[in-house]
Amino acid sequence: MGNNIGLDQNGVDKVVDWLNGYLSDLHVLYVKLHNVHWNVEGTDFFALHARFEEYYDAVHEELDAVAEKIVILGSRPLARIADYIDRTSLAESESKAIGPAEAVRLIADDFSKMIVNLRNGIAVAQDAGDETTADLLIGSLGRYEKDLWMLKAFLA
Ligand SMILES: [Fe+2]
Repeated sequence: MGNNIGLDQNGVDKVVDWLNGYLSDLHVLYVKLHNVHWNVEGTDFFALHARFEEYYDAVHEELDAVAEKIVILGSRPLARIADYIDRTSLAESESKAIGPAEAVRLIADDFSKMIVNLRNGIAVAQDAGDETTADLLIGSLGRYEKDLWMLKAFLA
């Protein structure tokens, strides 16, 4: 591992390690959003089916940006499902019919976890003086905060 972007390698190693854990979370979230996209049933089917698709499209873009950031930092992103399962802080869910409120609660809980994780990652990046990684993560944080508000409004 090495970087030529003027950052202390010790700090970069910590950022990369955090980003690989977050990349693992994103892969699990990506699959889980497909799960509820496919399995949600009930009166709000059309709205939630479409909304969950928007979410997994956004997660796909995010996970690509995070993996590329790891390469930019002179390292290699985890690229095996087994590694993602090993590193993730999220739990997978069974494939079965799920009602609108239960599906939204499931995703809201994960978005809450992503928000807590992101706050840690932003601190790790800022400690390393890595402003562009912090900026990337702050952008994600804002999106999850807004999405969580809307999911909670659905449940109210
Ligand atoms: Fe679909």
